[in-house]
Amino acid sequence: MKTPRTLGTPLSPTATKVMLLGSGELGKEVIIALQRLGVEVIAVDRYPNAPGHQVAHRAHVINMTDGDALAALIAQEQPDLVVPEIEAIATDKLAQLERDGKITCIPTARAAQLTMNREGIRRLAAETLGLATSPYRFASSLEELQAGAAAVGFPCVVKPVMSSSGKGQSKVDSAADVKAAWDYAAAGSRVDSGRVIVEGFIDFDYEITLLTVRSLGEDGQVVTQFCEPIGHVQVQGDYVESWQPCRMNPAALERAREIAGKVTGDLGGLGLFGVELFVKDDMVWFSEVSPRPHDTGMVTMATQAQSEFELHAKAILGLPVNVALKAPGASAVIYGQHEAQGIAFEGVADALRVPDSDIRLFGKPESFARRRMGVALATADDIETARVNAKLAASRVKPVVVE
Ligand SMILES: Nc1ncnc2c1ncn2[C@@H]1O[C@H](COP(=O)(O)OP(=O)(O)O)[C@@H](O)[C@H]1O
Ligand SMILES: [Mg+2]
Repeated sequence: MKTPRTLGTPLSPTATKVMLLGSGELGKEVIIALQRLGVEVIAVDRYPNAPGHQVAHRAHVINMTDGDALAALIAQEQPDLVVPEIEAIATDKLAQLERDGKITCIPTARAAQLTMNREGIRRLAAETLGLATSPYRFASSLEELQAGAAAVGFPCVVKPVMSSSGKGQSKVDSAADVKAAWDYAAAGSRVDSGRVIVEGFIDFDYEITLLTVRSLGEDGQVVTQFCEPIGHVQVQGDYVESWQPCRMNPAALERAREIAGKVTGDLGGLGLFGVELFVKDDMVWFSEVSPRPHDTGMVTMATQAQSEFELHAKAILGLPVNVALKAPGASAVIYGQHEAQGIAFEGVADALRVPDSDIRLFGKPESFARRRMGVALATADDIETARVNAKLAASRVKPVVVE
């Protein structure tokens, strides 16, 4: 399998075909970027009318953790590239198909396998690559968790090994709270593997996402480039606002790039990665990495010459990329606030009256109170103004239930 640097015509025998596994708001933007290059896009998700389904050439609804269903769909569609957009996928099947030469998986099937489980990526980063991380233990029972929490010390953070967006994650202040964290993790795990990680709590000054792109250079060698760091605020493990560039001391930035270079170099392949790092003075800890665009990177739709989605689309096709910053800016999340199907959004016009702002509404068919339904973006001469304006624009969008 190879990187399709020659692009065809969609819906014809020359088509360059890309299959997205997961078609949420991040996948939707990757699809739009691919569409602009005349790529034929097949969007897959577990529910109908997912955001990416609405902008692709074809849409499929399957259970992507079912390896046989996944393999059957890939055999039917014959994509040139398979692009995982979420973690909950039968990655072992992708690895087998890749080994058999049947697919090219972005960035690699191994990267998808390692990052879908916190144990895989943590052991790689800390034990194989020797990167600084929080102290950690894994546990498969309450007793093991109690011992692990005592070993890493309090406060600590307990997370299911398979979960995202803070689901099942809690901070534990003392031994008395360990049982509650164990029960909470079991309820919030994507797959009830009964396994958790407990991490020592890092008292960081701030946290960043360092978007890192592996693309092909003129000589066919892989080139690694870094976007300006993105600062973000998480509430209960879920991103609520982000900004770029995040001011960093030069030694910390250099260390962050070194860590991101090492981990993405090991995962390999082509595409964009979101490397999550904790920073205190000039100390930097590796936290986790997404081998795909990152939710905090939605800010790049306003701040960069090429958004993280365009960077990913171009890099996976073997095309050159430009990681330049265009203007400082910020993003703020718009939540559903209601539990309902087919909600409406009032106040969009007022939101867009905020200077240098923009809005994305994802088109999700069903709203939940804490479901991310859209994002507000703003640019300004300085980060502080951009953050205020992004939050102001987001607050003016009012999700309503239409009776
Ligand atoms: N060991 C830790 N110390 C301090 N804060 C943490 C730690 N682990 C996670 N967090 C906080 O929780 C957020 C979500 O954790 P993360 O491991 O990134 O989970 P997810 O995969 O759900 O994004 C982080 O961005 C950070 O704000
Ligand atoms: Mg994270």
